[in-house]
Amino acid sequence: MTIIDALTQANEQLSALPSPELEARLLLAHVLRKPQTWLFANETRPVGPARTSKYFTLVSRRKRRVPLAYLTHQKEFYGLDFYVDKHVLIPRPETEQLVNKSLDVLANFDSRRQVSNRALKRATTELKNFVVADIGTGSGCIAISIAHSYLQPKIRLAYGESRQAYHLPPKTYATDLSPAALQIARRNAQNVLGTSHNITFLQGNLLEPLPEKADLIIANLPYLSEREYAETRPEVKQEPKEALLGGGPNGQSLIKQLLKRAPEYLKPSGKVIYESTGGVVLEWDN
Ligand SMILES: C[S@@+](CC[C@H](N)C(=O)[O-])C[C@H]1O[C@@H](n2cnc3c(N)ncnc32)[C@H](O)[C@@H]1O
Repeated sequence: MTIIDALTQANEQLSALPSPELEARLLLAHVLRKPQTWLFANETRPVGPARTSKYFTLVSRRKRRVPLAYLTHQKEFYGLDFYVDKHVLIPRPETEQLVNKSLDVLANFDSRRQVSNRALKRATTELKNFVVADIGTGSGCIAISIAHSYLQPKIRLAYGESRQAYHLPPKTYATDLSPAALQIARRNAQNVLGTSHNITFLQGNLLEPLPEKADLIIANLPYLSEREYAETRPEVKQEPKEALLGGGPNGQSLIKQLLKRAPEYLKPSGKVIYESTGGVVLEWDN
């Protein structure tokens, strides 16, 4: 079977989906480990029997509305590749706003601790001790994207010369109720950040696992109401239920519990940033 034959058959099988042609291409590119554009230039090439069989297994799972990201085990978030499977929520584009907002808060703090390479070691203890907590970390996408943005050398222009200025990544705790999700978050941290990073993954309910007070708590906890959940696409129903539901009938009870107990876990001028209904990012100050 040639590439174009495989794509044509898959396209027919996926015709009930909104973008069958694109999905057929993405799946084949994944199976062949080639960029999607490569397929256009190689339509008459044969696909071997093992790969054909693997491809049509994935196509039939996609037809049964398994999310594409669970089939390719990959989702891009904040310009980075994250491994995902059925144990974690697939990161949503709207959650990138939560990362942006968190980076704004950190940048305010960083303006005080911005240090040149030479002065790095002299950063004060107070500044080094900035603590971030990502509650309900799932795939780890929020904590890892924040840490990654700190690892990028930033070019600073001073007195007409360009110098590299490094920021220290904040000490971060990332928590989740689900041990399976934490395993994936750890794997993603290693893939994206390497073996030595500043994130400690902890299992437990809401803020309870935190071993010290935080300056910034970030939370993307389940917030769908039972009605919203009932009306979601079939793909969403294949994501972990505990990542979407758990906030009671109106979806708000987990975040309410977190905000109620936040003063115990925040430093005096600490802040909570959280995602709520419709992907809206909200702030709460201690
Ligand atoms: C909406 S998902 C968000 C995942 C990830 N932070 C993201 O933005 O893609 C919510 C996460 O919170 C976790 N969770 C649910 N209830 C929790 C609780 N009581 N304490 C800690 N984590 C919880 C779920 O296991 C899930 O990983």
